[in-house]
Amino acid sequence: MLSLEAAGRALERAGQAHVLRFWPELGAEQRDRLLLELSQVDLGGLRAHCEGAAQAAAAPPRSLDRRLEPVPPDSIGSTKTGDGRTLAGWREEGQLQISKNRVGVLLLAGGQGTRLGVQYPKGMYDVGLPSGKSLYQIQAERIHKVQEMSDRKYGSKCTVPWYIMTSEFTLTPTEKFFKENNFFGLEPSNVVMFEQRMIPAVTFDGKIILQSKGKMAMAPDGNGGLYQALVDNKVLEDMEKRGVEYLHVYCVDNILVKVADPVFIGFCVSKGTDCGAKVVEKAYPAEPVGVVCRVQGVSQVVEYSEIPPETAELRGPGGELVFRAGNICNHFFTRAFLQEVAEKYKDQLKQHVAIKKVPFVDSCGNQVTPTKPNGIKMEKFVFDVFPFSRTFVVFEVVREEEFSPLKNADGAAKDTPTTARNSLLAQHCSWATAAGATLLDAGGKALQSPASVSAGNCSPAFEISPLVSYFGEGLEDILKERTLPTPFILDEKTAKDLQARIPPQRDSLDRVGRGGGFVQE
Ligand code: UD1
Repeated sequence: MLSLEAAGRALERAGQAHVLRFWPELGAEQRDRLLLELSQVDLGGLRAHCEGAAQAAAAPPRSLDRRLEPVPPDSIGSTKTGDGRTLAGWREEGQLQISKNRVGVLLLAGGQGTRLGVQYPKGMYDVGLPSGKSLYQIQAERIHKVQEMSDRKYGSKCTVPWYIMTSEFTLTPTEKFFKENNFFGLEPSNVVMFEQRMIPAVTFDGKIILQSKGKMAMAPDGNGGLYQALVDNKVLEDMEKRGVEYLHVYCVDNILVKVADPVFIGFCVSKGTDCGAKVVEKAYPAEPVGVVCRVQGVSQVVEYSEIPPETAELRGPGGELVFRAGNICNHFFTRAFLQEVAEKYKDQLKQHVAIKKVPFVDSCGNQVTPTKPNGIKMEKFVFDVFPFSRTFVVFEVVREEEFSPLKNADGAAKDTPTTARNSLLAQHCSWATAAGATLLDAGGKALQSPASVSAGNCSPAFEISPLVSYFGEGLEDILKERTLPTPFILDEKTAKDLQARIPPQRDSLDRVGRGGGFVQE
């Protein structure tokens, strides 16, 4: 660990000597912790970081490049327009790659979840599904299922390793949660957690903010800190050792995320791309999603916080938004591309400025909770490597099938636990009715048709475990001609029980209990 003298000298050189202002008042433990924190900071680059942050915050917002163009529609692959055969071909290609252990998934889980307002990692959040499953559990079970589907198809035993990028805020609770839940049945050695770097928040005049007398205000370096973290933690070496060539990178909060989606992977592999992004059509101009677009033919994402409203509102002749390729934070990378980024480009990534209210101690040692923004946090964005890709592709998917993020606490208009839960349940109801089931609402009334369900009229809580079905497949055998009450959880046990009960026509309220339990006969 760093000595006090070395820390003092480095801070002096960086113009940040005030960080040790309260040193004489600190106890032994606090001193050790502060020195440890300092030894994890890039002290050589500290002056540049602090001054750069202050300058970036003072500069007028960068005006968006005038040459910005939408992605040409004909260059976008799509599950919307792709015919059944093409989609099946992509899925098959993806499953083949998965069966050969060439596919890994990487979860970005280092964020602080400030908007949701919980003190624990977002992945641990339970949105109130009948099963009570957390986002982490849903994702783990999808990984299970995708492995099982490939195993069944190719008669082999495959592994999709799960890399999880955490931060100082999320590592310990995430590790504990996984251990307590027995890694949700996954092999622990195939779940690789690693930590991204933290960087200090600074004032508008470029001084590190002290959160308390013995602690700097630190924040993760943005999800674009991924590329440095891959190097710091030798993740690319681990991928190479396992033979992983393709990586699906995704963010933690989308309850509908198709983890290791064989269709997306198969599409990217068959196009021979090094990097790709899934998008949905943006719902309205101010929707908080980045847009995938181009500048002089080079693909990039313009984040929602940086796009001027007048650009976001531009419409084409048919009334459609011009910039409508909404980023859902689902990316495809080849390992070779990530290696190149790590070697050549990671230090060139743009720094984005976030102005925040950061609690601090003033020079007299008083704790202050600011009422207006006082600090600058610098962040890198995961998609800022797109311009380095030579063969970038965009893949459009259907929002109702793949995108319902959890961003805000209940009470907000959008992207809340309630909207996330409802999206998942609506999807599962529509899968069940498409498979031939009749679902009864809480009042015993039958839902009319799959169309009414997918149109969002689905109030019944019908939940399908990812261990039973990944994208709605395989349900006919279990659900055809069944009449089922809700709430109902279709998991491996209830699925088996249903299949054991023939003929299906007789299966109804008198035989099946609510909540997915069967009434004893
Ligand atoms: C993100 C995308 C946005 C997209 C939207 C879709 C980025 C920079 N922005 O926005 O373009 O339209 O999702 O929902 O990707 N994270 C880390 N470390 C950090 C910060 C964040 O791992 O330092 C993780 C979070 O845990 C989360 C993901 O990155 O899983 C996205 O972060 P979040 O802050 O929620 O991004 P949004 O602003 O919603």
